[in-house]
Formats: sequence, structure tokens, C-alpha cells
Amino acid sequence: MTSPAARPVKIRNRFGSKPGVLRLEAAEITFKPYGVFTMAKSTITFEDINVTVTVPAGTRVIEVSEKVGSGITYGCREGDCGTCIMKVTAGWNNLTEPSVLEDKILRENMAGKHNRLACQAQVLGGEISLKPV
Ligand code: FES
Repeated sequence: MTSPAARPVKIRNRFGSKPGVLRLEAAEITFKPYGVFTMAKSTITFEDINVTVTVPAGTRVIEVSEKVGSGITYGCREGDCGTCIMKVTAGWNNLTEPSVLEDKILRENMAGKHNRLACQAQVLGGEISLKPV
């Protein structure tokens, strides 16, 4: 008796012209999960309004600060004008590295060591505290 796994299966080639036969010899196919994914979270404290929110990793500060009513102001939202400079008071390493463009804009605006552009900084996880400049 032929096991269900060894039963011939008619297949068609990609263009559907000549059918072929694929004989399955393996009795089982195992799907292995890639792992359990958990979305990293980060907490951002906006010191000017004393509000702390939890956000998923990858969130830009601009996305949250507007919703909670922080005093960080915005212009271009593309890392070009320097309007959204903020001071990161804690958790500096929990933000993405500044891009070359962001570094340039920060230098042009004579920003301090722990200043970032809120429209460019993305959270990586952990705790972050910041305030408008
Ligand atoms: S809003 Fe212009 S640089 Fe962030």
C-alpha cells in the first residue's frame, strides 16, 4: 500500500503546458518557527510636560511629542531646518545614531552634545528623557 506521502501528485509546469508527476517520498514536512518575536518597547519622558509614554522601537520622537503636547516645535520634519532640536537628558544610547545629515544640521545650529533632531531620532528601546531646547 502506498502511504499518502508517497502518492504521486500531478503538477503542471509554470506555463501549464505539460503536466508532470512529483513523487513525494518524505512522510512529513516540518515547519520550524523562526522564533518568538517581541516588539521592543521604549519609554519616553517629556520633561517639559512631565509625561511618560511607552512606544514601540522604531518610533520617531516627533510622532509622540505632538500627540502628548510637548513643547518641541517643528518645521520641515525632514531633518533639514533644525527647528526641532531637543535635549536628551537621559537614555542617549537608546536612540538611533544621528545620520550624516542630522550631524550637519546640528553643527550648523551649534547644538550641544546631547541635542538631537526630534524628527530624526528613533527610539531603540529602554528609557529616554528629553525636553525642548
Ligand atoms: S523639523 Fe526640520 S529638522 Fe526636524
